[in-house]
Amino acid sequence: MTDAAHQVHPVPSRLLNDPKFPKPHVNSFENYEKIYEESIKDPETFWGKKANELLHWHKPFEAVLSGGFEHGDVAWFREGELNASYNCVDRHAYANPDKVAMIYEADEPGNSRHITYGELLHQVCRLANALKALGLKKGDTVAIYMPMVPEAAIAFLACARLGIIHSVVFAGFSSGALRDRINDASSKIVITSDEGRRGGKTIHIKKIVDEALKECPTIEHVLVFRRTGSDVPFSAPRDLWWHEELEKYRPYCPPEIVDAEDPLFLLYTSGSTGKPKGVLHTTAGYLLGAAITLKYVFDYHENDIYGCMADIGWITGHTYIIYGPLVNGGTTVLFESTPMYPTPSRYWEVVAKHKITQFYTAPTAIRLLRRHGNDYVKGHDLSSLRVIGSVGEPINPEAWEWYYEVVGRKECAVVDTYWQTETGSIILTPLPGATPMKPGSATFPFFGIQPVVLDPVSGKELEGNDVEGVLAIKKPWPSLARTVYNDHNRYLKTYLNPYKGYYFTGDGVGRDKDGYYWIRGRVDDVMNVAGHRLSTAEIESALICHQSVAEAAVIGIDDELTGQCVHAFTTLKDDQIADVKELTLQVRNVIGPFAAPKKIYIVNDLPKTRSGKIMRRILRKIVSGESDQLGDLSTLADPSIIPVLIEKVKSS
Ligand code: WTA
Repeated sequence: MTDAAHQVHPVPSRLLNDPKFPKPHVNSFENYEKIYEESIKDPETFWGKKANELLHWHKPFEAVLSGGFEHGDVAWFREGELNASYNCVDRHAYANPDKVAMIYEADEPGNSRHITYGELLHQVCRLANALKALGLKKGDTVAIYMPMVPEAAIAFLACARLGIIHSVVFAGFSSGALRDRINDASSKIVITSDEGRRGGKTIHIKKIVDEALKECPTIEHVLVFRRTGSDVPFSAPRDLWWHEELEKYRPYCPPEIVDAEDPLFLLYTSGSTGKPKGVLHTTAGYLLGAAITLKYVFDYHENDIYGCMADIGWITGHTYIIYGPLVNGGTTVLFESTPMYPTPSRYWEVVAKHKITQFYTAPTAIRLLRRHGNDYVKGHDLSSLRVIGSVGEPINPEAWEWYYEVVGRKECAVVDTYWQTETGSIILTPLPGATPMKPGSATFPFFGIQPVVLDPVSGKELEGNDVEGVLAIKKPWPSLARTVYNDHNRYLKTYLNPYKGYYFTGDGVGRDKDGYYWIRGRVDDVMNVAGHRLSTAEIESALICHQSVAEAAVIGIDDELTGQCVHAFTTLKDDQIADVKELTLQVRNVIGPFAAPKKIYIVNDLPKTRSGKIMRRILRKIVSGESDQLGDLSTLADPSIIPVLIEKVKSS
């Protein structure tokens, strides 16, 4: 471990003492410990109280928690009724119609737009009325395949208003990936746009949708928002223009009041098999997780401008661009561009321009900007910032220090937040006014979360400090996903059965001598590339779908910039030819450009056990330059292939 990781940084005194700033909600470590203890000792009282404090209920709940991990039958706030869009929009629109709900910072610098809560309510209602007129109703599923425009948020909220389950597909996914997600969820409508703009480039979104829809029998309509105004293929009556439809309807639509446990959305994520799973979140629990973590983890106060740089296509965008800020009545920034466009100063221009108070991004972006040097940060007024956050992968202490010193000028709290698509909201994190920070550690559990370090083999809880194992959570919390869409058994198998009685995260973890948690990365076949979650099996099956490929083995390799990168080994069928370029294109086409392997090695044979299992461990060692430490090779069927593989990797 590097020196940086051993340093403990106290809470910046500016946060606690500067009269210009609001007093932190939790302003000492003792205060955190006290609330945490209460939340663990009596979770039902804690969550029941928070649910009433942070959410508006149309009908009060009768029980806080029912069920448990043992049977996979967890339910929160039974018999309670509410509506997520009412909670995120209406109540704020009535109290404060002119408050800015969203700031849209478009790809082109200089192009931004403010949307008030009053306007947001109108737009959400018009769209909800349009969806209703198309025959959609509670429990139906709608696919959203949109660029980072406010209309994407409007689409989320219009679905929520009617109890329709939204299934957002990141607009970087290929047509094939979109098709599979639409079909798995039996979505009836796709909400999309003509094109997207990102980093000065055009993304041909509608064309990708058309390609996907060649094999989507459940889709009845495509609602197309005009982002660029270019000519795009349009086939009436299936396709409808957003602006033409919305014009037809009045700007009020009564919210459909739903049960606390009714689904709010599906979000597909990679697991250790090739088929992505539709992680299902329910209304009240998810919304409460979003509300409480936004408030405490980012120390959100009323006049803050909250900027999360993620994409709405991932869970971070769902929880911390849309639901978290809006349920708290906050102002959220929707950033359409990239940290590099038109220069590596873009983030800091945006912070200064909109006076962002909380800024949230991923380690991969931090490392990239660090590499470009401090000059791009200097000269921008970042004094509005109080909290700067990191999410999606372990942040190396050097990148953490740079973020803290150069971006935060040692005056901001850095929150290294650990969570997952499945957890719905942050579960390990410092609190800005309370937690002394250690660079690279997600520090301590959030309220109500009981993390345990398990021995991976025996499954026993490792007590005390200075232990290493796998991370599991002992007790349910409201925003945990309830199931995998149409596959509850897979939910049990993946999360609840590996260690009976616990939720298993799939991550390795250490708890150091001071009780700080350190996430070590995935212990399963999931890779983390630039904060994107990818499964080795998913990329392997994309490669195998190529007519020439016989077998494929995919591994994650450490990468200075992207955390991990993808390397793939393939063998070809007899008499077949294929080049690396073609195989890379294959992955881009089946999954999306972000999954493309950095390196593909076409080889004659893969290392296998005698029973035919591919030994990825060996490939990983060879690529990492550790071929002198291949470990136990006694189960390897044909040791003679090792030198051949080493030579191949060396010469590529
Ligand atoms: C990893 C993203 C270390 C982890 C919100 C987890 C992290 C996976 C951190 C979930 C962090 C996320 N430190 N690792 N602060 N945050 N991860 O579902 O491996 O896209 O299991 O959710 O990202 O990725 P997902």
